[in-house]
Order: sequence, then structure tokens, then C-alpha cells
Amino acid sequence: MKVTVVGAGAVGASCAEYIAIKDFASEVVLLDIKEGFAEGKAMDLMQTASLNGFDTKITGVTNDYSKTANSDICVITSGIPRKPGMTREELIGINAGIVKSVSSSLIEHSPNTILIVVSNPMDTMTYLAHKSTNLPKNRIIGMGGALDSARFKYRLAEALEAPISDVDGMVIGGHSDVGMVPLTRLATRNSVPVSEFISEDRLNQVKEDTKVGGATLTKLLGTSAWYAPGAAVSALVQAIACDQKKMFPCSALLDGEYGLSDLCIGVPVILGRNGIEGIVDLDLNDAEKEHLNTSAEGVKKTNGLLDV
Ligand code: 2OP
Repeated sequence: MKVTVVGAGAVGASCAEYIAIKDFASEVVLLDIKEGFAEGKAMDLMQTASLNGFDTKITGVTNDYSKTANSDICVITSGIPRKPGMTREELIGINAGIVKSVSSSLIEHSPNTILIVVSNPMDTMTYLAHKSTNLPKNRIIGMGGALDSARFKYRLAEALEAPISDVDGMVIGGHSDVGMVPLTRLATRNSVPVSEFISEDRLNQVKEDTKVGGATLTKLLGTSAWYAPGAAVSALVQAIACDQKKMFPCSALLDGEYGLSDLCIGVPVILGRNGIEGIVDLDLNDAEKEHLNTSAEGVKKTNGLLDV
């Protein structure tokens, strides 16, 4: 199993590290445009192998896509992260060109690969990858909902004063500060609806804290987060690599599902060796449908800024 991660910045390097520690891939190629940067990150990570107990081989390369050839899965984290006060959508001017170029370079050397897009604005970058590569729609996946759901579970556990392992919940919709749809109605503590334990007001606070989870960290860190994004995308890679048939909310190209078409937005999908092996049609209530539709309008507005 060969995985390429483009972008050796904090998110890409964290993704590579988590993939290696899980030890399901034979090789991870870490690629960056900055001379020696990916090589250095890869060497540093390889020097943890005996300590963290993995045999995955991590190789760093500077802008040489031939070294990514025949990758089963390619993760795109390249582009600039946001600064405090910025929205993800403001990154489109720079990141669109990067994602388009990187996608094409990856496909040239790995025509059968599965692409996972992380770069922001992620839903629009995922849509751009579809438009610029024409890969089958099951082989392009946007990572946002897995991260947002992890933040949702963190906030739910905080409100419940419960261990996170007791909590389950999912965020669908756009990966944006205003477009996320945390499904509080369906969230549970060990199979019991969380509404049995916490008030509607407190649940609404959990919802709002989840939506700005990324911005909250960007304000604290001075740049975008990387541990949870890296962990979220490594979970998607593992589900595909190990054919786990796990359900994650991912940005998928819709063609009528949820009454939406011609956009990529976060919906529950089943991930396996073929990438998106199915889109799960949740029975949303009217309020949830309205929030998803509003979120879709926001994603389509950002898509409209693309030159595709
Ligand atoms: C985040 O929410 C980087 O969009 C990513 O942290």
C-alpha cells in the first residue's frame, strides 16, 4: 500500500506520522515544493520508527512527482493555511491554482489513485479536483466532516462531563465556520440521545463551538490546526487502505442525493478500497434539511469563484 501526502507542512507531516504509526502502509511519500523540507520531515519521522514501532517507510521528495508513481491513495494538504480572523473561503485565490496543479501531477503518475483533498476551502477544492481530473466520483474525497465530527465529540464530551469514548456524533454540510451542520438530534452517549443529559441551550452552545472549532484554534495558534486534521485524514486513508467499510462524513460530489447536485459537500459515506462505496441517505428533519440546503448555497457561492 503506497500513500502520497503532498504538503509537508504541519497537517501533511502529522498525517504522514499517524499513517506510519498505524503501520498499515508499506510506504508514505511526503512531497513538498520547499527544497529539502519534505526530506527533513521524512528523515525525522523515520528516526521515530524504532521508538514508535512502525515499519512503514517514509520518503521525502522535493517536487518530484515521479517518486509518487503508482500511489494507491494521494492526500492533498498543500496550499496556505488561514491566519486568525480569516475564513477558509479567503484562501481560494492561492489554493485553487495549487490544488489544480497538484491534482494533475498526481494523476499523471498514479492514474488509478484515490484523491483525498484537505486544502481549503475544502469543499470547493474537492469540487475543483473533480472538474480538473475527471476521476470517477468515488475516487475523490474531501476531508472536513471527519475533523468537524471529532471536534463535535470533543465538545459533547465536555458538556456531558463524559469520556469521549462514550460519545458519538456527526457533522455534515460544508466545512466552513457558518455552514457546518452538527447533528445534535442524533448524537448519543453510549446509545442514549444526548438530549437526555444536557439542555437544548447547552446543546446549541456545543453546536456553535463546533462550527468555529477551526477558527478557535487558529486564534490560539496563530495558524490552522494540524494534529486533529492530520489524524482525521489518516483515519480516512486507513478506512480505504484496509477496506474497512467505515462510515465517515466526507465531502462528496452529489448528483441528486439530499436533493443537491453539482457540488461537493459533507455527507455520510461508506469508505472502502474503492473510495466512496456509497452515500448514506439520512432521514433528516426539516430543520436539518434547511441547514444543509443553506450550507450548500454557501458552498456553491464559493464554487462560483472558481475558473472551471
Ligand atoms: C481546520 O478546520 C484546517 O480546515 C482545517 O482546522
